[in-house]
Amino acid sequence: MSQPPWMRSAAGANVYDHDSGTVLPTIYERTTATANQHGAVNLGQGFPDQEGPAWLRQLAAEAVGTDAGPSNQYPPGLGFPWFREAVAEHQRRWYGVDLDPADQVMHATGATEAITASILAFAEPGSEVLAFEPFYDSYGAVVALAGAELRTVPLRAPDFRPDVAALRAAISERTSMILVNTPHNPTGTVFTDAEWEEIVRLARRHGVVVMSDEVYEHLVFDDAAAPHRTVLSVAGAEEVAVAIGSAGKSFSVTGWKVGWLTGSPELVNRVRGVKQFLSFCSGPAYQFAAAEGLRDDRGFFAENRARLREGRDRLMEGLTEAGFNAFAAEAGYFVLADARQLTERPAAEVAVELARDAGVAAIPVSSLTLPRTQQEAEDELNHLLRFAFCKRPETLEDAISRLQAWSRRR
Ligand SMILES: Cc1ncc(COP(=O)(O)O)c(C=O)c1O
Repeated sequence: MSQPPWMRSAAGANVYDHDSGTVLPTIYERTTATANQHGAVNLGQGFPDQEGPAWLRQLAAEAVGTDAGPSNQYPPGLGFPWFREAVAEHQRRWYGVDLDPADQVMHATGATEAITASILAFAEPGSEVLAFEPFYDSYGAVVALAGAELRTVPLRAPDFRPDVAALRAAISERTSMILVNTPHNPTGTVFTDAEWEEIVRLARRHGVVVMSDEVYEHLVFDDAAAPHRTVLSVAGAEEVAVAIGSAGKSFSVTGWKVGWLTGSPELVNRVRGVKQFLSFCSGPAYQFAAAEGLRDDRGFFAENRARLREGRDRLMEGLTEAGFNAFAAEAGYFVLADARQLTERPAAEVAVELARDAGVAAIPVSSLTLPRTQQEAEDELNHLLRFAFCKRPETLEDAISRLQAWSRRR
């Protein structure tokens, strides 16, 4: 069987094994499998090891079990009207953005489907798509599926701010989209108003669509420099931008795969056109529970943020004591740490050693970037590891003591 074209792209480099000609699972699944194989504490994949709120899960269970509904049959492709109303209400309450739930909100099977449908809707074949790097790995794969080319602007340590001048320099006549993720995975950067305004200005000037992935919107810590702001609250953004959210991240129910997309009727309609041929629709009971949660989170967002911040601080401290150079995240689930004080070897190799010898799994950031050439091997992004802190205190303590014991043995 010949290699599908997208496997020859930069995204393919992370999942295609040229020796055996097989497609590998994503870095997240591979890391989880390695963690299980070595009995390692899994700080690789970004999922909480504590369930989301019991009341929310109860609402979904009741919705599946009662005849009062919603039914267990196909929901509308755009999502139930009350789900879309709840998203619109949420965007108004948190960001002051007015959306018509009839045609400016779309349900998606996780943010992942909204991302896929947006890129397939707006990235012209042969065009270029710009993203900040590192990036959520599905961006690279879907840009390749769309027949477009991903170009990146790196976020650099220690503060990982977006370099808007570099973005401006990277835009060309061929650019069809800019992919933004704020709060950002894995750096935790929250884009400021000034950064957003400049990105929107650029997009308008060049006629490109902005996709803003905002799944970590409710995970911004109280010491962040700026609050999160949805792209649609930036003046002029409604003509060029779509924004994406996720109940999975906001309510610690990552398996539910309830996402949404907001934007102008024209842009939402274009994305809907693709989405109806992906999943078409999903999860009526989860839509019901997520809608209730979006209307009233019953204090969960604040509680969750406080818990995550404690986890972040403890993991930072533990990594620093173990000899890593760890960077404070303003938001999200992850701490990035540079291993060069311990070893000159690239993070991809250190991650294997950590899982095997320390018993802790982490993700090398190089799997969330375009592949580096030999000359670029010294790039700092090749030396960063991503550790998830969205775990129970005892899980983090176990990981920290393993990392420190490993560091002492070296
Ligand atoms: C930046 C980013 N976008 C999207 C997603 C996926 O969201 P969902 O689980 O709702 O598909 C993730 C999950 O890790 C993510 O980190």
